[in-house]
This record gives sequence, C-alpha cells and structure tokens, in this order.
Amino acid sequence: MDKILVTGGLGFIGSHTVVELQNEGYEVVIVDDLSNSSIDVLDGITAITDKKPLFEKLDLKDKTGVERFFAKHQDIKGVIHFAASKAVGESVNEPLLYYENNLSTLIYILKELKKLPEASFIFSSSCTVYGQADELPITENAPVKQAESPYGNTKQIGEEIIGDTCKVTPTLKAITLRYFNPIGSHESAKIGELPIGVPQNLVPFITQTAIGLREQLSVFGDDYPTHDGTCIRDYIHVVDLAKAHVVALGRLLKNKNGSNYETFNLGTGKGSTVLEVVQSFERVSGKKLNYKIVGRREGDIISAYADTNKANNVLGWKTQLSLDEAMRSAWLWEQKVKSSK
Ligand code: UD1
Repeated sequence: MDKILVTGGLGFIGSHTVVELQNEGYEVVIVDDLSNSSIDVLDGITAITDKKPLFEKLDLKDKTGVERFFAKHQDIKGVIHFAASKAVGESVNEPLLYYENNLSTLIYILKELKKLPEASFIFSSSCTVYGQADELPITENAPVKQAESPYGNTKQIGEEIIGDTCKVTPTLKAITLRYFNPIGSHESAKIGELPIGVPQNLVPFITQTAIGLREQLSVFGDDYPTHDGTCIRDYIHVVDLAKAHVVALGRLLKNKNGSNYETFNLGTGKGSTVLEVVQSFERVSGKKLNYKIVGRREGDIISAYADTNKANNVLGWKTQLSLDEAMRSAWLWEQKVKSSK
C-alpha cells in the first residue's frame, strides 16, 4: 500500500487523519516537531488501529533535515501537510514566527515533491480565507478577503504558493481543503484535542468549564443579527473531516482529479449559534453549563457555513456525524484527559 507522509500527524486533525489512513491500509510516516503535541498521541493511534505508524521528530523549518527525510523515503506517494502554527492572536504579535513556520516548511516540502516522478499533496487551509462572506452558504468561488491576521494570511499565501507551483509542475497534484470549525474526538476517546493553556476555541472552552478547569464560559456577544443574537459557525466532527482527507488523497492517487490543483470546502452545511452549541453540550452531557454573555470578541465574523455541493458531488464525501455526536465525543475526551492526570 502507498506510503504517505503526514506532517503534524500528532496534532488534533493530524492524529485523527492518521487513524483513518491506517484504517484504509495506507502506510503512514508521521513527522512532527512536538512543539504543540505530545508523543503519547502515538500510543493512542496505535491502540485504535492496532498498528504503530512510523514517526520521525523533525522541525520542517530545517531545510537540510527535510531534504534528508525525503532522500530516505523516496517511495513516498503523497503528503498531507498539517504542520503549522494556528493561534490567531499569537500570530498578530509574532507575525514573522507565523510566516516562517507556516510558509518556509511548505516551500521546503514542495521543493522535494517537485523532484519525485509523481506526487500528491493535500493542504490544510481554513474558511478564514473567506472572512465575512457576502453570500451564505459559502461556495469555493466566494472571493478570498483581505486576511484578518498573519495566521489567516499564511493560509492564503500558502494556497497561492501551491497554485503557482502546480501550474509549472505537471507531476504534482494538489488539493486544498478549507476547514470550517473542526470539533470533537475519536469515539474511543484515545485521541482528541489537547489545547495548550487557556483554549481560544469554543468547544474545548465549554468542556474545560464543565469539568471544572475554567470557571465560566464567556459567550462573545448576543447582539449579532442572527436568530438568538450569537455568532453562527459550521461545526464539523473531526472524524468526518479526517475521512475527507482520505477521500481527497485517493482522488489524487487514482488520478480522478479534474485538474492538478483543486479546492474543497469541508463543512456540514449547517450553521449553529454559540448558544445552540452550549445547548447541544447540555443535552448530551446532562450538565448545566455556567456561562455568561459578554461583549463581542474583536475580529469575529457574524456567520459562516459551507456550501457542501462541491465536496458532496465532486469529491464524493459527506459528513455523517451530528453536532450532538461531536459534543458527546468532546465531553468523553475531556473526562478521559482528567482521569488520566
Ligand atoms: C477561530 C479563528 C479562525 C481559525 C479557527 C480555527 C478567530 C477570530 N478566528 O475561528 O481564524 O481558523 O478558530 O479553529 O480567532 N466563542 C465564545 N466564547 C469563547 C470562544 C469562542 O463565545 O470562549 C464564540 C466565538 O465568538 C465564535 C464561536 O464561539 O462565534 C467559535 O469561536 P472559535 O472556536 O474561536 O472559532 P472561530 O472564531 O470560528
């Protein structure tokens, strides 16, 4: 079976994707620098799939290290590139760190893929490239808006770098996946999201509040023009998202792609408000969540949810899991993290 490199394969989305790849029989090599992940995740993946993926600790900013890695693994058929920094606020304070981390690594990998007789590449992008879209649901043709943060800009520039490279490299096939809001964890609760410090994202903040690590969830604004006044997002179960990577990779490996660079939105197509996510949590956990409404968070958009037509009909992938199932798995994971401390 084909050998696939997964960069950032011990991270949240990366680890769930490695599980799905191994379930489909792929041979996986994980590269991770452990800067925002734990080596224990490898045990979780192994326990779920009964197979230990190959692992190399490598900082992809080390250009010689990347060259050495590819020289050693000349049989790599595809790369799924998750490794990147992703904290929006931090990126505003440390723009050079973000541009270096997220772009130099991408360039070094693409340079190596150019040398191969044939290569498939999947890139992790974000719906953040659309900003506040003028029309909802958001299709892949919606214009890319001026980035709100250096983090968002690295995704936009990253997409352009891949597009420009594909234009002049017929041996390279690439797909960019624009994620909406990934949440939840594997149903086994053997892997999940491990935010470092205070979580900035909604769902880990909810579960950490419920378990007693945080006092209260602040709901950022209830005066938005939505049905309950709180912002709307498209929350997608990370296992559904992981499966989309396997489908996208298969599309490239089997030469089913329409062109050598394609883009797909990955979402459920359904928008949920912050309060609906809280209600879902309360429903599946049987716990009342301590929250209060506070002012708006700077930079938040009002509403974003995916048009799923292209992903459903062209990629041939659909989400299968509900918001409740995602919240149930997130809660199970939080309890597991607590019990293993
Ligand atoms: C955020 C990032 C986005 C990134 C994505 C990755 C910002 C402005 N945007 O998106 O660039 O791609 O994470 O997952 O940081 N909320 C609360 N209380 C909280 C936390 C969040 O009410 O403590 C609300 C937010 O206002 C928002 C929703 O929950 O309406 C989701 O927030 P979050 O999980 O941070 O995701 P995004 O803002 O969509």
